[in-house]
Amino acid sequence: MDKILLSRFIAAVAAREVELSAAESWLKAVHMYGISPQDTITLTNEMMNSGSILTWEEQPHLVVDKHSTGGVGDKMSLMLAPALAACGLKVPMLAGRGLGHTGGTIDKLESIPGFNCNLTPQQMQDIVQKIGCCIAAQNDAIAPADGLLYAIRDVTQTIDSIPLITASIISKKAAEGLHSLVLDVKCGTAAFMKTEHDAIELAKSMVDVASGLGIKCQAQITLMENPIGSHIGNSLEVIESVEILKGNGHPDTKKLVVLQGSALLLMSNIVQNLNAGEAMIERVLNDGSALKKFCEMCVHQGVDAEIARRLCKDPLSVLPLSNNKIEIIAQHSGYVHSIDSMALAEIARRHGAGRFSIEDIIIPDVGYIIKKHIGEKIEGGQCWMEFYFSQQPKDSEIKQLSQSITISKLIRDNQSRLITVVE
Ligand code: URA
Repeated sequence: MDKILLSRFIAAVAAREVELSAAESWLKAVHMYGISPQDTITLTNEMMNSGSILTWEEQPHLVVDKHSTGGVGDKMSLMLAPALAACGLKVPMLAGRGLGHTGGTIDKLESIPGFNCNLTPQQMQDIVQKIGCCIAAQNDAIAPADGLLYAIRDVTQTIDSIPLITASIISKKAAEGLHSLVLDVKCGTAAFMKTEHDAIELAKSMVDVASGLGIKCQAQITLMENPIGSHIGNSLEVIESVEILKGNGHPDTKKLVVLQGSALLLMSNIVQNLNAGEAMIERVLNDGSALKKFCEMCVHQGVDAEIARRLCKDPLSVLPLSNNKIEIIAQHSGYVHSIDSMALAEIARRHGAGRFSIEDIIIPDVGYIIKKHIGEKIEGGQCWMEFYFSQQPKDSEIKQLSQSITISKLIRDNQSRLITVVE
């Protein structure tokens, strides 16, 4: 692909000076024929340069972020950003609203009364300089070329193109002025990438392009079959996150925060090895310093100081949780072998926890609390999950939820989520 032509095309897309039909034809051609790794780097670079780029004069090697391809109960960013800030790193995180089977990080944060995710690049820089982290919604100031291309990928059926996904994700992350980036590429039945092969292919492409733009980058391929942690749904995931930030919460969630956080601490040379990085993340989660950063982030992003204080002390006193609840009951005794995350997510999505179109309004208090986890013993008749809803679920949905757990006679080893690392 001619580099100058590609630059001009992306500049025209960013300025909205290109015919929609031309952009659609271009997307379809890239989707059908692919583009070379070098062209993917050029495309990403042009998309990054199509808008504002954050700059960090002091200690640029401390600027980090992570991106996840998304999973059920994937709330890591809410804890990771403040935990890393508590370790001395700078995290200018851009995140999205969900358009798949779950809400996105921004939807989760917007369940906190007053939380403002609409920050300008300058506001992001100011908050990060002051407290070490912020989480803002992607907007047209950053990589505006992606804004248009992403919006029409849906209608052109070009969502699943590896170079287009790579350029879309990495251009926005690169515009944050990052030194290091960890990617969590999820793989399995409840992930965008269903197989390990496809997840590794996407991971390699993103790592190569980020590295080509001078960012230290690692991808962690993690299993996305069973739900992550104990809470699923927008305000419910904030509740679990606050518990983790208080040093409590489900170990499954904590392990992923530690996995991603320790990699970034090592890549930024804050620690000399992964063990030291893990210990550091554990410490800031257990000693209250990550929670303090989370509280500061809420206040700097518009939450009233008293509400932020109450949120961090007793999240249920601030966050919405539906009064309508059904207990889902085990049909027989044994050990929990698996829970079908995708079935849970699709039902919650129909009840407002996720979107079908970008205009859909999220209902923050819809979701689940999982009471029995993989490998745990369960008796027939016992509740293994609570479903919080706003509109009475259909009998068929309750049946589907009851059938989404597999209980076996044999105890199942609790599998590590990490499959492999791509660097
Ligand atoms: N998120 C993005 O921002 N872009 C993609 O292409 C996929 C997920």
